[in-house]
Amino acid sequence: MKIADVLARDLFRGKTAFITGGGSGINLGIARNFAALGANITICSRDLGKLDRAAVELRALGAQVLTVSADVRDAKAVAAALETSQAQFGPADVVISGAAGNFICEAEKLSPNGFKTVIDIDLLGSFNVSRCALDQLKATRGSLIFISAGLAWLPYSHQTHAAAAKAGIDALMKNLALEWGRYGIRANSIAPGYIGETEGTDRLAQGPVLDAVLQTTPLARLGTTDDIGHAAVFLASPIATFITGSVVVVDGGHYLEGPALLNAAQRKLSAQA
Ligand code: HXC
Repeated sequence: MKIADVLARDLFRGKTAFITGGGSGINLGIARNFAALGANITICSRDLGKLDRAAVELRALGAQVLTVSADVRDAKAVAAALETSQAQFGPADVVISGAAGNFICEAEKLSPNGFKTVIDIDLLGSFNVSRCALDQLKATRGSLIFISAGLAWLPYSHQTHAAAAKAGIDALMKNLALEWGRYGIRANSIAPGYIGETEGTDRLAQGPVLDAVLQTTPLARLGTTDDIGHAAVFLASPIATFITGSVVVVDGGHYLEGPALLNAAQRKLSAQA
């Protein structure tokens, strides 16, 4: 199923989506869905080569695409990326803060700098992107979308750093929804489950851990990047204009079972390593 077979192909014609981490994985899936519905796309990440490869795919969908290199930990670089995007496409209508870092490491082995690195990319990065995009979003009465995860509210073993970061992102999202509603800006999070063919799932769920994910997902499959793209399109669309401050869970129902089985599998794997 292609999104343009279901929704109007020009739903986002003349609108601009600015997407951090948009060179791969979930965020590229989001970019692809906005591109297929007519949006101009700015994708931003540290790796310009990756962005340029992604841009080829997005342009094939008919979108105008800009690639800009910035590390979301660097507010000046983020501000410059947003300015470049505005110069090309006008103020952003949709800003997606998706850049993230994660790895499997028990808290007792994690260095303070390892913890800080993930907090800086995920949480400080999300603040930088939203704060630097504020004027553009005021101009468009636009939509902010953050990428959270189930570990924001339940502990997934060996991911203290990402859990703290994602919980912080949801708190940030709710506060911005509260404070910026008066500008007509909406803020929401998407909490993806395990998504196939992404660096995140490759890093976090291998072998028995992946088996545990599937056993505890009522819909019995991994998600796709399009599953997340569809949720983002909905949240940014004119049929979601009274939705703000929400966490939209897109995980095939995995959160209903929780991570107990997966945690046991991860502990066993780490004990064997
Ligand atoms: C323990 C680690 C580590 C590991 C890095 N560190 N990898 N510690 N186990 N596997 C520590 C380093 O030792 C160092 O601390 C500190 O982290 C910074 O490491 P750098 O390599 O210098 O950082 P940097 O180059 O900025 O890279 C950031 C990164 C990297 C997060 C470490 O993995 C990255 O760039 N990731 C981006 C892509 C990614 O992770 N995608 C998956 C996202 S999945 P010391 O003390 O030695 O200086 C996701 C989903 C979440 O977010 C939820 C899913 C359910």
